[in-house]
Amino acid sequence: MPATSPGARGATITGWGSALPSKVVTNADLARTLDTSDEWIKERSGIAERRVGGSTAELSIESARRALAKSGVDPSEIDALVLSTTTPDRTVPATSARVQNALALTCGAFDVNAACSGFVYALTVAHGLIAIGARKVLVIGTDTLSRITDWTDRNTAVLFADGSGAVVLEACDGPGQLLAWDIDSDGSAEELLYSDIGGHIHMEGKEVFRRAVRIMVDSAQKSLTAAGVSAENISLVVPHQANIRIIEAACERLGIPMERAATVLRYTGNTSSASIPLALVDALDAGRVHAGDLVLLVGFGAGMTAGSAVLRWGGST
Ligand code: UT7
Repeated sequence: MPATSPGARGATITGWGSALPSKVVTNADLARTLDTSDEWIKERSGIAERRVGGSTAELSIESARRALAKSGVDPSEIDALVLSTTTPDRTVPATSARVQNALALTCGAFDVNAACSGFVYALTVAHGLIAIGARKVLVIGTDTLSRITDWTDRNTAVLFADGSGAVVLEACDGPGQLLAWDIDSDGSAEELLYSDIGGHIHMEGKEVFRRAVRIMVDSAQKSLTAAGVSAENISLVVPHQANIRIIEAACERLGIPMERAATVLRYTGNTSSASIPLALVDALDAGRVHAGDLVLLVGFGAGMTAGSAVLRWGGST
C-alpha cells in the first residue's frame, strides 16, 4: 500500500475525545455466572474489567462532542462524518444518521464496517476526503459488542465490551500527518470470527490469535516501509486492544518496546472500532505524544481485516 501521494492536501488531528458506559463489569462479576476466574482472564488476555451499556449512537455522540469541543470546531463546519462500527443500532439507516442529527451537523454521514480495523479504515477514508476538498471531517470509532455477545459463552464473554473514541481531522497547508497507510482484507478467514444478523459472536480464538499477530506485523511493516521510517523511530504504537499477549507478540516482532505501546484494555476490554481511538485519546490526554512524534496505529479484526497508519503528530505546515 502507498505512502501518501506527494502533493495531496494534508490533514492533522486537532481534537479528540472518548466515551465509556458508566456500568463496570469486573472479572469477578463474570466469574459469578461463568466457569472462569479473574486470574485466568487477566493472565490470558490482560483484561481486568470492561464497560457495558448504551447504544452505538449515544456513545458516538458523547465522544464526538468531546472531540469537537477540544478542536474548537463548530458542528456546522464539519464537511463529513465517518463512523466506524460493526454494531450499528439499526440495519438501516446507518448509525451516523442519528449521530449527525444529534450533533447538528449539516454534512454527509456514513458508516464504515471493517470490524476492529475499522477506525484505521475510517481515518484513511477521511484523509482521502480531505485530499479531494473537504476541510474538516469528524471520524468516530464506536462499538457496543455487549449487544452481540453470548454472555453464557466464556470463550467470548470475557473479552468484548462497549466504548467510543472520536477525532476531528482538519486540512492543513503542508503535507499533513499521514505519512503512509495500509488496509488489508482476507475474506477467506470470515468463518473465524462472525456474528449473523440477530445472532452472537462466534470465534475460533486460538486461530484468530495466531493470525492476528502475523497480519498486524505485516500491515505495520508495509506502512513503516512506505513511510520510509523504521520501527525504532516510532514514539508511540497504538494497537488494537484485543489481548495484551497479542500486543506484546506484535511489538516484539516489530522491535518496538512495550513501554512505547498505548494500552487501555485492562479496563476497557476489546471494544472493536473504539479500541484504537480509546487508546490514542488516553495517550494524548496523558501527554505521551508531542509535536513531531511518529505514531503508528495498527489494528486487525473480523474479515479478517488489518489496517495501519504512520502519523507524524501535528503534521507539518
Ligand atoms: O478483535 C479480535 C477479536 N478476537 C481476538 O483477538 C481473540 C484472539 N484470541 C485470544 O485472545 C485467545 O485465544 C483467548 C483469550 C480467546 C483464549 O486464550 P488461549 O490462551 O488461546 O486459551 P485456549 O483457547 O487455548 O484455552 C486454554 C484453556 C482451555 O481449556 P483446556 O482445553 O486446556 O482444558 C479452554 O477451554 O482455557 C479454557 N478456557 C477458559 N478457562 C477459563 C477458555 N476460555 C476460558 C475462560 N475461563 N474464559
